[in-house]
Amino acid sequence: MKKMFQQDKDDGCTVPWGPKPWPIVGNLISLGRRPYETIYKWSKNPLYGPIFKLRFGSQTVVCLNSTKLIREALHENAEIFAGRPYLYMINETLHGKGIISAPYGKDFNEHKTFLVRNLNRFGRRRSSLENACLEEVKIVAEKIRDQHQTKSFSMGQFLSEISCNNICTITMGRYFDSAKIGRFLGKINENFNQTATIASFNFLPFTRWFQKKLFQNVADCAQFVQTLIKERETDFDEQSITNIVDSYIDNLKKQKIQSFSKENLDSLVQDLFVAGTETVSNTLNWAIFYVTVHSDIQQKIQNEIDKVIGKERYPCIKDRMKMPYTEAAILETMRCQCAGPILLPRSTTQDILFCNYYIPKDTFILVNMWSVMKDETYWNEPNAFEPRRFLNDKQQIQNNHIAMMPFSVGKRACVGEAIAKTQLFLVFTSLLQRFEFRFMDDWKPKDLQGEPGITLRPPDCKYMARVR
Ligand code: HEM
Repeated sequence: MKKMFQQDKDDGCTVPWGPKPWPIVGNLISLGRRPYETIYKWSKNPLYGPIFKLRFGSQTVVCLNSTKLIREALHENAEIFAGRPYLYMINETLHGKGIISAPYGKDFNEHKTFLVRNLNRFGRRRSSLENACLEEVKIVAEKIRDQHQTKSFSMGQFLSEISCNNICTITMGRYFDSAKIGRFLGKINENFNQTATIASFNFLPFTRWFQKKLFQNVADCAQFVQTLIKERETDFDEQSITNIVDSYIDNLKKQKIQSFSKENLDSLVQDLFVAGTETVSNTLNWAIFYVTVHSDIQQKIQNEIDKVIGKERYPCIKDRMKMPYTEAAILETMRCQCAGPILLPRSTTQDILFCNYYIPKDTFILVNMWSVMKDETYWNEPNAFEPRRFLNDKQQIQNNHIAMMPFSVGKRACVGEAIAKTQLFLVFTSLLQRFEFRFMDDWKPKDLQGEPGITLRPPDCKYMARVR
C-alpha cells in the first residue's frame, strides 16, 4: 500500500510531462474507454507532442506516438527498446520464461530463433497448416450452412475455434473437437476481455485482491497446456517430429541449446496460445464485420474469388498472389483495427538520448501503434475503410507502406506473421466464397469503433448467412 502513495523517481528522464496526473491513480482515469485514442489525441496537442511522460499509479511511463518516432525507436534503436518491464499478471504466470515475458537477452534470442525456424518448418513449408486450417473451415462452414441460414449467429466462437485448433496443430500436432476446446477458449477469452483490469494490476496493486477469477483462469490454462505437453513427452519419438513441442523436447534431450528447459517450454506454448489465437480470430471477426457493413466491398471480393478460385474447390495459399483486392481488404482490416493498438509494454535496456531527451535504462515505455495506423501524415481519411489504398495504379498490391506495422517491427516483432496471414486469407476467402453475410434484421452499427478496452473487439452483432 505504501508504494501506491510514493511518487517514483524518474532517474533523470528528461522527456516532458503530458497532462497533469491525479493523486494515487495518476493519469489512469483520464485515459477513458479507449486509451489508445486518448493518448493519440494528447500527442496531437502542441503542448505535449508525440513523446511525453504519464503517471500510472506510482509508475512513470514514457508514451511514444507517430510513425516516425515509433520507427526510430523500434527499428533504428531496436535493442535498446526491446526490454520488458515487470508486468504483474504476465510474470506471475509466465515467470519471465518463453518469449513474451522474457527479458531481452541470450535466452530470449535463443527461443525466438527456435520459434521462427520451427514455425516455418511446421506452419509453412509442409503446408500442414493449410490442410488443418481448411479442415477447420469446412467444419464451421457446414455448421453455418446447416444451422444458420434461417437462424442468426455470432461469428466470434466459430473463428476462435478455427484459430485455436490451428495453433494446436502447429504446436502439438493435434486438434480437438469444439466441446473439448470450448472451456479452454472461454478462459482465454474471459481474460482477454479483461485486459484493462489486468493492466491495472501493474499500477494499482490493490486491484489484484478483487480478481481471483482471472488468476484461476490462467492457472487452469497453464494446467491444460502442461497436461498436453506431458502427453507429447510420453509419446515422444525422435524419428517422427511433427510439431513445435516435439522439436523442443528433441533439443532438450540432446542438450543442443543451453537455455532450453521444461519451464521455458511450458511458457513458450502458453505464449503461442495467448499471442496466436485471439489476434487471428479477432482480425477475422473484424474483416467479416467490415465487409458486412460495406456490402459493395463484399461483392467485389466475391467477384475476385469467383474469378480466381471458382465456386467448387476451396482456396489454397497460392491463390493469394492472384487476389490483390481480397489481400487489400485484409490489410485494411488490420490497419483500421490493429490487434494490439498499444503494444505490450517495453522497457529500455540501456540509457539512450532519444529525440534529444535522456531516457535511462529500465524506463517503462508504451508504444501506441494506433497513432501509426491512423497517422494523418501518411493516411488520407484514416478512419475510412478503403481497401483500394493498398493497390497501385495497376491494381497490384502495395504492401510496403511506412505506416503499416500491424505485426510491429524490430526485436520483439511478431513471430507468427506468416502463419497469421495464411490463416487470415484461407478462412476469409473460404467463408466469403460460400456465404453472403448480412446483419440480422438489417441491424446497423452505431459506429465502427467496436468494444472499448485495450484490445479491439468488434461489436457483438448477429449475422445471417445466405448460401451463394
Ligand atoms: C492477425 C494476427 C496477428 C497479429 C496482428 C499479431 C501482432 C503482434 C504484435 C503487434 C506483436 C507485438 C510485437 C511487439 O511488441 O513489438 C506480436 C507479438 C507476438 N506474436 Fe503475434 N500477431 C498475430 C498472430 C500471431 C500468431 C498466429 C502467432 C503464433 C503462431 C503469434 C506469435 C507472437 C509471439 C510469440 C509474439 C511475442 C514476440 C516477442 O515478444 O518477441 N502472433 N504479435
